Formats: sequence, C-alpha cells, structure tokens
Amino acid sequence: MSTKKLLVSLSFAALLFGCGSQASNETQNLADTAESSSEESPRGDPIEGERVYLKNCASCHAPDAGGRPGLGKPLAGTDFITTNSTADLVGFLIKGRGPSDPENTTGIQMPSRGGNPALSDDALKDVTVYLKTLPQAPS
Ligand code: HEC
Repeated sequence: MSTKKLLVSLSFAALLFGCGSQASNETQNLADTAESSSEESPRGDPIEGERVYLKNCASCHAPDAGGRPGLGKPLAGTDFITTNSTADLVGFLIKGRGPSDPENTTGIQMPSRGGNPALSDDALKDVTVYLKTLPQAPS
C-alpha cells in the first residue's frame, strides 16, 4: 500500500470513527432529553399531585378526598372529577367558585388555587391527575 493510500484510508477510518462516536453521542443526548422531559411530566405527575393535595386541599376536602361537610365537597370518584378533562379541571381550580356562583351548591367558597396563589398551573395539573386516579371514597 502506498503511503498516500494508507493516509487516505486512515483518515477515512478516522472520519467513520468520528461520525460513529458523534452519532452515539447524539443518541445519548436524545435519551437524556427524553428522560428530562418525562421528569417534567407534560401529562402531570400524580405522585407530586398527592403531595400538593395533602398540603393544600385535604384540610377542606379530607385526606381521602371524600369531602368534609361544611368545608369542601367530595372529590374522589365524583362525576365532576371523572367527566371533566384535565384542562377543564385546571381551569376550574385557577378560578375557584365563589358562594354566589350559580354552580355553587354549598354556599361556601372554593378558593382560587385552593387558596394558595403560589400553586403553579403545573402543580394544579398534578393535583388533577392525582384526583383522577382515586376511586370513590367510602362515605
Ligand atoms: C377552604 C376550603 C377549601 C380548600 C382549601 C379547597 N377547596 Fe375545593 N372546594 C371547597 C368548597 C366549599 C367547594 C364546594 C363549592 C360549591 O358549593 O360548589 C369546593 C369545590 C371543589 C371542586 C368542585 C367539586 C364539585 O363537584 O363541584 C373541586 C374540583 C375542588 N374543590 C378541588 C380542590 C382542590 C384540588 C383543592 C386544592 C388545590 C381545593 N379544592 C382546596 C373548599 C375548599
């Protein structure tokens, strides 16, 4: 093999090798992206939702989401939770429902964002997804 040919094939090999390792880096990066976006959980995270629920909602709606008379309506397994979309429920939670709202059945206020303005829309989505996992609470 001439020196020139050897050099050409060596650099070709280097090129191949270079491409190969770059491709595998890209695969790695894609895998990383997929992983981090699942951590951000675009569909909502029910585990985080339970944490948010117990901290912000359970005082009125009870830890099992079965409701507390005079404080908050039952949520677990109710038509309101199961038939409304996640997006509609998040919209409801952002607004809340005042005592004079025609849809209010208790005359008691459901505070906007459960009374915690620091709860992000994402946190409300997590709570909603969590609530949708609950079976009807025993009454
Ligand atoms: C201070 C008490 C209180 C807190 C805290 C609270 N709620 Fe409520 N919530 C209520 C009351 C009272 C109602 C019922 C209003 C009515 O009569 O329509 C209600 C209604 C609701 C409803 C509508 C149920 C239905 O069938 O119409 C949902 C959903 C809900 N709350 C979710 C939540 C979530 C999620 C949180 C926490 C982020 C939360 N609430 C925090 C008092 C509270």
